[in-house]
Amino acid sequence: MPDLPARPVVHIVGARPNFMKAAPVVASLRRADVPQVIVHTGQHYDPLLSDVFFADLGLPQPDINLGVGSGSHAEQTAALLVGLERAFTDLAPRLVVVYGDVNSTVAAALVAAKLLVPLAHVEAGLRSFDNTMPEEVNRRVTDLLSDILFVTSPEAVDNLVAMGTPRTAIHFVGNPMIDTLLANLHRLDPGPVLARLGQVAPYGVATMHRPSNVDDPAQARRMVDMLRAVADQAPLVIPLHPRGRPQLEAAGLHSGERLRIVEPMGYVEFLSLVRGAAFVVTDSGGIQEETTVLGVPCLTVRPNTERPITITHGTNRLVEPEAVVGAVAEVLAAGPGGGPHSVPPLWDGRASERIAAIVVEWLATR
Ligand code: UD1
Repeated sequence: MPDLPARPVVHIVGARPNFMKAAPVVASLRRADVPQVIVHTGQHYDPLLSDVFFADLGLPQPDINLGVGSGSHAEQTAALLVGLERAFTDLAPRLVVVYGDVNSTVAAALVAAKLLVPLAHVEAGLRSFDNTMPEEVNRRVTDLLSDILFVTSPEAVDNLVAMGTPRTAIHFVGNPMIDTLLANLHRLDPGPVLARLGQVAPYGVATMHRPSNVDDPAQARRMVDMLRAVADQAPLVIPLHPRGRPQLEAAGLHSGERLRIVEPMGYVEFLSLVRGAAFVVTDSGGIQEETTVLGVPCLTVRPNTERPITITHGTNRLVEPEAVVGAVAEVLAAGPGGGPHSVPPLWDGRASERIAAIVVEWLATR
């Protein structure tokens, strides 16, 4: 165990969507001189899914990497539980902070609860009300076990209250992922990535990795047919997550002139590509929020979303695969701008400051 601070606040990160949420919280707590330790579970280990984000976001290198890697949900969660229990036993955290809804999040919540370590959940209360999504299970369990619940949008407060969470434990602070987006806005220039790819506007960006869209061969074929049809309307760039790549290729997805499959991108490069896009087709959670702030139309190929505020306020729409082509035609006809939309309340770049202030006050009362 390296030389680490005694009784720290311990942040758990593991998968790509955690890093942009943790970065501003870690920075805000550092400014408040709070002793901190970053534990990377190793759920994501490919440099393009992990290392590149630490470099892009100025997130300090993890103090500990558990190296759990991939596996079935049971295998991965079991390895997470064992590794995190050892780490928490050694570190004796004053508070564990978890982010989002990935397997690393729920595993850290379970371990903290069993070791009687207080737990804070950043991005609590989101609900798709669809328990076939592994992330929905992770969200519910993590929220049940959390002592401090940081919420990104008002309906998440209602979801937590409905579950019986005491109101005093719920803090509507805004969205730290959007803190990261706004802090990096000046770096988001589509020019370099378009030059690298030899891509000209107008173009769309697509991402696809959810088990419900890629694992079943028939559903994967629906997705591939949709992506091909969209690429006939406007050239499409697809930075493809390694999960699902074999299934989508087996279903007939091949890179070509109008449908470019590229490696996963770093934070700045990917959001620069999105910023310059005419539209995005995705099954991601976070991209629904980022496009809302960037004013880029987002077509989410899912039957539901845990982020309804991106529809009521933002540029997001839920679409069946067969309806994407029609939606893209509408978006292209409407021109740039994403139609009338507003940025959700408190998505103002200061969420992590609010989180840090609450944590500092909480630590002072212990
Ligand atoms: C995880 C999250 C998902 C999130 C996504 C973002 C869970 C349950 N899911 O999904 O919510 O949207 O991250 O990326 O936590 N793999 C690699 N390299 C890696 C990591 C994974 O190739 O560095 C491949 C492996 O084949 C692995 C598969 O991706 O088996 C699944 O990885 P896993 O960490 O289980 O979940 P993701 O699909 O990445």
